[in-house]
Amino acid sequence: MRHLISPLDFTTEELDKLFDLASAIEQDPQKYAHVCDGKILATCFYEPSTRTRLSFESAMIRLGGQVIGFSDANSSSAAKGESVSDTIRVISCYADICAMRHPKEGAATVAVAKSRIPVINGGDGGHQHPTQTLTDLLTIRSLKGRLGNFTIGLCGDLKFGRTVHSLIHALVRYPGIRFLFISPEELRIPDYIIEMLKEKKIPFREVIRLEDVLPDLDLLYMTRVQKERFFNEEDYVRLKDFYILTAEKLKLAREDMLILHPLPRVNEIDVEVDDDPRAAYFKQVQYGVYVRMALIMTLLELA
Ligand code: CP
Repeated sequence: MRHLISPLDFTTEELDKLFDLASAIEQDPQKYAHVCDGKILATCFYEPSTRTRLSFESAMIRLGGQVIGFSDANSSSAAKGESVSDTIRVISCYADICAMRHPKEGAATVAVAKSRIPVINGGDGGHQHPTQTLTDLLTIRSLKGRLGNFTIGLCGDLKFGRTVHSLIHALVRYPGIRFLFISPEELRIPDYIIEMLKEKKIPFREVIRLEDVLPDLDLLYMTRVQKERFFNEEDYVRLKDFYILTAEKLKLAREDMLILHPLPRVNEIDVEVDDDPRAAYFKQVQYGVYVRMALIMTLLELA
């Protein structure tokens, strides 16, 4: 039985197959409308979510399956002190596959140890968010036609942003990737990622000003400052509007640069940018459904 806890759980060859399936679903969704008839997905979300939870639910329903779950730890027996290990043993009796989000890093790994069904990590603290990475990679592959040979700028909260951490781990496996990390000093990329890049001899640079590197980028991945991971409100307020991408700033960027964002957005991309043809963040949302349909089929061995 397979699970998805980290983007590295799939080889690049397996990812190619998954993305081929997601693209086939995009071309002809009706062909897959009954693949999961009789199957049940449980969504166990101990943290807020719009996209991840609802796209999983939409994916399962579009495949003909059904959905159970909770969207708030307080409406589950976690509020009475039940552990993740016990919860997944229970969920294993009710569902065929489980997508889980939890504020604690490693929670999905704990669940896997006791699970009788495939577990998908829908985000664990500031650690990993592998299905967002699948969404990001499918978007890039679909809109650019390749997954290597890019200069990618990651901008904003690189310290707490789990989507960023997952995406970097996935992209280092492709050739010709160069990273530009754009963040205030307080929200720098963690040292363990810097060490990993040095070890693999992957080129990267850390900068503070977005304008200084915008002309160099093939891809710009904007992120929200993660209010929920700050220890004090004062630091959050000081840093939350550090970067705001505007139409004016975008004049510095290449005509074919893609603007990505895992969403939700707060202030870091001005709404006027939404009409720019380079803005791909709402397209990402749609690709997120196709790739989760492909992932459910793959983990249930229905692909
Ligand atoms: N991108 C993402 O994880 O969004 P949600 O928090 O709404 O699931």
